[in-house]
Amino acid sequence: MKVLVVGSGGREHAIIRKLKESDCELYCAPGNGGIAADAICLPVSATDVAGMVELAKQEQMDYVCVTPDDPLALGMVDALKEAGIPSFGPTKAAAQIEASKVFSKNLMKKYGIPTAAYEVFNDAEEARAYLKKQNSYPAVIKADGLALGKGVIIAADEEEAMKAIDHLMIDKAFGESGSRVVIEEFLTGVEVSVLAFADGTTVVPMVSSMDHKRANDNDEGLNTGGMGTIAPSPFYTAEAAARCEEEIFKPTMAAMKQEGCPFSGCLYFGLILTEQGPKVIEYNSRFGDPETQSVLPLLDSDLLTIMKACTEGTLKEDLVKWKDGAAACVIEASGGYPGSYEKGKEIHGLDETGQCEGVTVYHAGTKADQGVYYTSGGRVLGITGIAPTLKEALDKAYEGVSRITFEDMHYRHDIGAKALKGN
Ligand code: AMP
Ligand code: GLY
Repeated sequence: MKVLVVGSGGREHAIIRKLKESDCELYCAPGNGGIAADAICLPVSATDVAGMVELAKQEQMDYVCVTPDDPLALGMVDALKEAGIPSFGPTKAAAQIEASKVFSKNLMKKYGIPTAAYEVFNDAEEARAYLKKQNSYPAVIKADGLALGKGVIIAADEEEAMKAIDHLMIDKAFGESGSRVVIEEFLTGVEVSVLAFADGTTVVPMVSSMDHKRANDNDEGLNTGGMGTIAPSPFYTAEAAARCEEEIFKPTMAAMKQEGCPFSGCLYFGLILTEQGPKVIEYNSRFGDPETQSVLPLLDSDLLTIMKACTEGTLKEDLVKWKDGAAACVIEASGGYPGSYEKGKEIHGLDETGQCEGVTVYHAGTKADQGVYYTSGGRVLGITGIAPTLKEALDKAYEGVSRITFEDMHYRHDIGAKALKGN
């Protein structure tokens, strides 16, 4: 069986590493330096829908896993289906759950799924007037569309809120994504990510995880795509899980079906555990990055079997079994990320860490040239440690981190610290 994974990040590398345990021949487009050691990389951009369908036809792929948000929102799964090629991921209509905040907020309101109260604005003047009238800070301002994970602004005061409206709606920092905004209530509580397999009807949650979004220690600095994760999250108790299942996961699946766009693929629930109970912060229509790098290593079952069951509508809870223990992933990023950074730095120490027991190195932004690896992106590597306890998993991940270096390398030293302390 020939399987093509679409994408080029650490998340895709983690999916490919897990799929290596399945009975299949692996391809990736476009992939990266490290992925090339595990799959045949083909030079088609992840957002080139027509090019990807052509490639899948030409190479006679039996199955495609569409991983990143953009191709999903562009309808790659629909286009592959038209060409007779089954794939993992939601249709364009279902991918709206991530691609439009207005769609997802309206969905939650209509079906009574707990989330922050909100208003939608198409007009900058009206948005400004509303913020002034509310006069409640921090205020949460979100671009409607996809914005590389940077479309959410938490404004501490009126000045920041006005700047955010200018940035999104007037300067159009994220193009049309910001022509509509959602302004919502600020929620407090611990954040948990729950990725779930979904087949249109049935939803099976994976082990929970916790992302660390800010660039620097102590949750300071700019928001990033994620600087590290741990799994499972100790804050996600059995009681919280049971509530999420009944109040959020199952109702979301039923709502999507009712709206005529059943969700199949990986549905990512970004949750916040508030005093009033769990609420949805956001949905993503795909595996999280770097959540996947700490969740999939704990999956005991065959990933390809589960993915195919999602596509075919035959997903069952007993297909998805987990290992005991914990995982932690620490991201090594280029100096300056998430702002501007230099590329092309030689990476040292990869071999040594690759051979370390319980440590896996996932490549995100790397290029290989004659056996030497160079940086080629903001998030460069994800170093995952697996062990019986979270503490040991973190020790292993940081041991790996200490062995791999490149010029101006930047990482967080406190991944998992809050989870270990339990507050
Ligand atoms: P999102 O891209 O929607 O996940 O938002 C990015 C981050 O902003 C989240 O991980 C939260 O930390 C924060 N955030 C988003 N919405 C809210 C909210 N309503 N209240 C508090 N924090 C929020
Ligand atoms: N780590 C957050 C995301 O994948 O959106």
